[in-house]
Amino acid sequence: MDVTVEVPPGTEEATPPIESFDDMMLDAKIMMDIKFKEYDKPTPIQAQAIPIICSGRDVLGCAETGSGKTAAFSIPMIQHCLQQPEIKRGDGPFAIVMAPTRELAQQIEKEAKTFSRSSKGFKTTIVVGGTNMSEQKMDLRNGVEVCVATPGRLIDHLHQGNTNLARVSLVILDEADRMLDMGFEPQIREVMMNLPTPHQTLLFSATMPVEVEALAADYLNKPVKVKVGAVSVPTSNVAQHLEKLVDAQKVDRLCELLLEEKSEAEKFGGTLPMTVVFVERKARADEIMTLLNEEGVAAAAFHGGRSQQEREAALSDFTTGKCAVLVATDVAARGLDVKGVMHVVNLDLPRMFEDYVHRVGRTGRAGMTGRATSFYTDRDSFLVAQIKRALQDLENGNAFAFATGKEARAKEREAQKAWREGRAAEPEQAAVGGVDIIVDDKFKHMKLSASTASLTSAGGAGAAAPAGNADDAFGSDDDDDW
Ligand SMILES: Nc1ncnc2c1ncn2[C@@H]1O[C@H](COP(=O)(O)OP(=O)(O)OP(=O)(O)O)[C@@H](O)[C@H]1O
Ligand SMILES: [Mg+2]
Repeated sequence: MDVTVEVPPGTEEATPPIESFDDMMLDAKIMMDIKFKEYDKPTPIQAQAIPIICSGRDVLGCAETGSGKTAAFSIPMIQHCLQQPEIKRGDGPFAIVMAPTRELAQQIEKEAKTFSRSSKGFKTTIVVGGTNMSEQKMDLRNGVEVCVATPGRLIDHLHQGNTNLARVSLVILDEADRMLDMGFEPQIREVMMNLPTPHQTLLFSATMPVEVEALAADYLNKPVKVKVGAVSVPTSNVAQHLEKLVDAQKVDRLCELLLEEKSEAEKFGGTLPMTVVFVERKARADEIMTLLNEEGVAAAAFHGGRSQQEREAALSDFTTGKCAVLVATDVAARGLDVKGVMHVVNLDLPRMFEDYVHRVGRTGRAGMTGRATSFYTDRDSFLVAQIKRALQDLENGNAFAFATGKEARAKEREAQKAWREGRAAEPEQAAVGGVDIIVDDKFKHMKLSASTASLTSAGGAGAAAPAGNADDAFGSDDDDDW
């Protein structure tokens, strides 16, 4: 197992990994639920993180997309709750999970319910924006063991006195870096500052920027850092293809690609493989959905500008096969686990490298393989260079991690500016998070040996081309999941 475990100086060694659920000393009811879910053995992050969490320590957990992080924190969370004195009406929950989007919170709640289905009377509730408060209020007031929430709505309930933190002894932040990006830090801080002592805190993500480590330093107590494989890089389970275009060609090329795949599949009696198309803006998601439907490709649009009902309907049309294509903004980039997604298309590349990592990770999950196609223009040269470097490192087996996050992006902006102004000593090299990025196209026909993954590039990265303006990285079109 390619696992790195770091403990703070002067603290006890971490509990060693356990490679079988049977040996984890879990409650018999949870074991029944694991069997029911048909998980034969723990994934590496589960094998390492579950025993450490069960030992009561704080954990900063990082492992690639689709590697089972949800169960890595949900299983010990249920175990923890089962060990607490019974919950009474009016009590707050034992465990709180915070996640950046409503659908991700729903997915986590479902997972928590899966591992507590044999524990009679065990209650889990979900508290997210965009839905009626009164039902959530009733659930909270009746007393629940676990509350899964988006941070803004949780704070609303706390302010209204619908629940309290008095019995919380476990807090989990899933996709902590995204929550910071979305500006949820004040809400997270408010929760963390008002927790009883002692309590246990866990942070999980596939990308671990420096800001999260800073948050960890503030709120985690001597955390054990568990990292599985290469951190903050796209999964090697996905064959990644880059295609250079000009903006005006993108939509035609997308239609061509999807129609070709559809007719190819139909030749063999199949249908278009499930595809997620990522776009930059909400309005564009709607436009592309309409266009694809007109072209005979059934598509649904998923973004923060739609009502909660519309969002859920779109996701359901996609998961049930009514629509083979989901056109989405970055609100779908994190955590969503939809079985059968074969292809991720970046019609527009994201601005940040970590968003690329998460988007691509919507396929190639749980040991399956997938494909990603990214259209790029001269504006994206900087990000394309990062992607190529990451793929080269994957091929070379380096457990190299990009420094991602706001601090890294500030450095990145400086590097981009220097690059644009021709101030960089070597125009084809730019420093990102202390790492030299080689901006050329030498990885054109690279094949990833780790899996079926391959990188092909239909055009040059354009060494001298200016990168996009990263200053508007937090533009007004951001999805909002309060
Ligand atoms: N031990 C296991 N055995 C088999 N399948 C598993 C196991 N653990 C998790 N899975 C499956 O793997 C898939 C991915 O899990 P999960 O969504 O937790 O990944 P993740 O690491 O949180 O990814 P992301 O970084 O994208 O959020 C899910 O469909 C889940 O049911
Ligand atoms: Mg996840």
